[in-house]
Amino acid sequence: MNDNLSILGEIEQNSIQTIITQIENSYKSLPPLLKIYSKCKDLLKEQGTLWIFTNNIINNSKLIPIPFILCNNLKELGYVLKNLIVYYNLNYKNNSVNFENRYSHIIFLTKQKDNYKFNKDPIREKHIWKNVEWSGGRKSRYNEKGKDPSNFWLKTKDNGKGKIIEYLILKKSEAIDRIIKATTSKDDKILFLHDKFNKINNFNENFLSVELKFNFLEQKDELNLVKSIDYKNHALLIKNHLKSNIFIKSSENMNDLPDNTIQSVITSPPYWGLRDYDHSNQIGYNSPYIEYLNRLNKVWKECYRVLKNNGTLWININKRVKEGNMILFPYNFYTTIEKIGFSLLDIIIWHKPIAVSAYGEKNLGDRYEFILLFSKTSDYKFNKEIKLLHTPDYIHLNNEDLPNIWRMFRKIGNIGREVSLMIKNKKIRHTAIYPKELVRRIILLSTNKGDYILDPFAGSGTTLVVANKLFRNWIGYEINPNYVEIMKYRLKAEGKKVMKLDEFL
Ligand SMILES: C[S@@+](CC[C@H](N)C(=O)[O-])C[C@H]1O[C@@H](n2cnc3c(N)ncnc32)[C@H](O)[C@@H]1O
Repeated sequence: MNDNLSILGEIEQNSIQTIITQIENSYKSLPPLLKIYSKCKDLLKEQGTLWIFTNNIINNSKLIPIPFILCNNLKELGYVLKNLIVYYNLNYKNNSVNFENRYSHIIFLTKQKDNYKFNKDPIREKHIWKNVEWSGGRKSRYNEKGKDPSNFWLKTKDNGKGKIIEYLILKKSEAIDRIIKATTSKDDKILFLHDKFNKINNFNENFLSVELKFNFLEQKDELNLVKSIDYKNHALLIKNHLKSNIFIKSSENMNDLPDNTIQSVITSPPYWGLRDYDHSNQIGYNSPYIEYLNRLNKVWKECYRVLKNNGTLWININKRVKEGNMILFPYNFYTTIEKIGFSLLDIIIWHKPIAVSAYGEKNLGDRYEFILLFSKTSDYKFNKEIKLLHTPDYIHLNNEDLPNIWRMFRKIGNIGREVSLMIKNKKIRHTAIYPKELVRRIILLSTNKGDYILDPFAGSGTTLVVANKLFRNWIGYEINPNYVEIMKYRLKAEGKKVMKLDEFL
């Protein structure tokens, strides 16, 4: 490893505009890797950027989210985290516990918060599907130069009239080319650091490719990233009279529910500092980040208690850019939730091809969210034989495998739509609704008819509506009583009435 540092020591400090790395088989030796990234910071010019190809790995049937862990460590080294790109490819098929893996990641980091070189024009994407993207008054989104490039990397071929006819995998050399085009100009120096598995042909005379040496066998056990599971033995309580219900209170305490009752928790929690849900005791608004995580942690602990031993927890969450720096909520969720005893199994990517970005000029637009899947024990219910409709893979259209990238336009479900009701002359609305299709897939994969499903942040009731439709029992917690009216309305209007509404409201 010292060898590697001395090789890098020969490169002039502050001389490189862009560093790109792919060192994938040495993840068990994270500390030496971090020394290399620390050295990279010295080599980069002040306006320089660092791009890291990386991927999740599986260890003992659990997912280790190396990209999240790296992001966090690199922030601690003083880098600014700008984005986490989903790079669609088929190179790591087995790096998912329950799905067919379809992606790896590219981390985008800078040395300085605002003053760095990044130009999105050379890598703009093609607009897609005219009537979806800018019909209905959204014409302002159309840009003659092309659509803003996003953090979901896949190549598309269109029919010349704005409709995509084919998706193609972006080759690694093409991905690197995108990075170079967006971050360098004519005489800038580019450094590519790789291990012996990831060589690539030189692009031009300013492209310096350096192979680093890793002794994988020896370093294998150096860092144990896996925490052992704490199997708690919950007593089964009598749960005869638990009916589908909505509780209007904070889910930090769900003592209405006995232990070991719920088959699947499906939820999207409030984000930190983003939306005001108009209640003094809401989680996430106007409170320090640590308090937000601590309060959520109480909810996750309660989820652990009420879940059956073969139950699963599904959390839809995104990232957020605040003051130029990306906050990776899913990383913090992962570390706190694993401490409770849950195991991370998979991270599904929800691709939103027409979402509008809010990450600013010098960044890639945001077009995906995460769905984290945790289990309480290693013996969990997962209906692998389920065929999910609407899941054509981007590349293999007739493939029946379960991919871990789920594309959902607004025509499936209700992304971006709000639900609003007039109640006593007052307009009540909920604007953070997730798609019904997303919930439908999770319910089919993780439960059977009659099972109990819990949403501790029920909002407008999407989880409950879909559960009801699919003949599952459901429990919702929501802090804002106004939203109960919306849930009631949706359960009547959108759900098949398998439960008598009067029974629980
Ligand atoms: C992102 S929204 C959920 C939206 C929901 N998935 C849907 O499709 O409508 C989060 C919800 O959590 C609620 N909330 C915030 N703090 C809470 C708490 N302590 N207990 C229960 N619900 C809370 C908010 O009022 C908001 O409705």
